[in-house]
Amino acid sequence: MNTLSVLDAITSRSSKRKFLNKPVPKEIQEKILQTASMTPSGANMQPWIVYAVSNTKVLETIGNAIISHIDAGGEVDQFIQYYPLKWKNPYKLRRIKTGVGLYEQMQVDRKDKDKRKELWYDNYRWFGAQTVFFVCTDKSLIEGAQGALIDCGAYMQSLMLAAKALGIDSCPQGSTTEYGRIIAKTLDLPNNLALLYSVVLGYEDTSAIQNTYQPERVSLDEIVTFID
Ligand SMILES: Cc1cc2nc3c(=O)[nH]c(=O)nc-3n(C[C@H](O)[C@H](O)[C@H](O)COP(=O)(O)O)c2cc1C
Repeated sequence: MNTLSVLDAITSRSSKRKFLNKPVPKEIQEKILQTASMTPSGANMQPWIVYAVSNTKVLETIGNAIISHIDAGGEVDQFIQYYPLKWKNPYKLRRIKTGVGLYEQMQVDRKDKDKRKELWYDNYRWFGAQTVFFVCTDKSLIEGAQGALIDCGAYMQSLMLAAKALGIDSCPQGSTTEYGRIIAKTLDLPNNLALLYSVVLGYEDTSAIQNTYQPERVSLDEIVTFID
């Protein structure tokens, strides 16, 4: 089987937000997980613990639990705070530009609150996909330390690149980070685990306009200082 080069996998991956109603075969999931397990981690601690869920009933139950919680006015219920509490520029502008770009692409009026909420809730419908990896770590690794979060971030990219190389599209989700405790309860996770994020995996719906959106990146001079 021909797979993509690493460079091609990195540059051709993009977040997909509408998937075909088709599960990722178990052997492909295992190949993705096996490949991603080679992600480096500090002291080789391999802090990632994964629940690979393709049971549509379970996915529906998790999604419903989160949506009911939000609809009832519930606050975020999380193990880690992903986004900054106070946004400053240039990050705030980048966030706004990316959001506006996606809504424009989908011809959604930013003032259309109902439509925006529907799009947000699509996260908890897994964008129509049937396979989601929920990535956790041991709470003891993130009590007063952040290294495991760095490792699990690298692991996220490994999952998505391995998937891409095997013809599987993905969407990383911090929208589940925010309701990590609800997911932990619904999945009845052991008490020592903290849910960090999820990655939706599947086959993109190529007719969906949102799947053609590729937000720009800033130029190297904005982020790199060469010291020769
Ligand atoms: C940690 C993390 C969390 C994210 N959470 C979400 C999410 O909850 N929902 C979503 O639609 N996209 C989410 N994204 C996708 C980002 O919006 C996307 O990566 C970014 O806009 C760049 O676009 P690209 O992935 O298509 O290159 C997340 C990305 C990362 C890395």
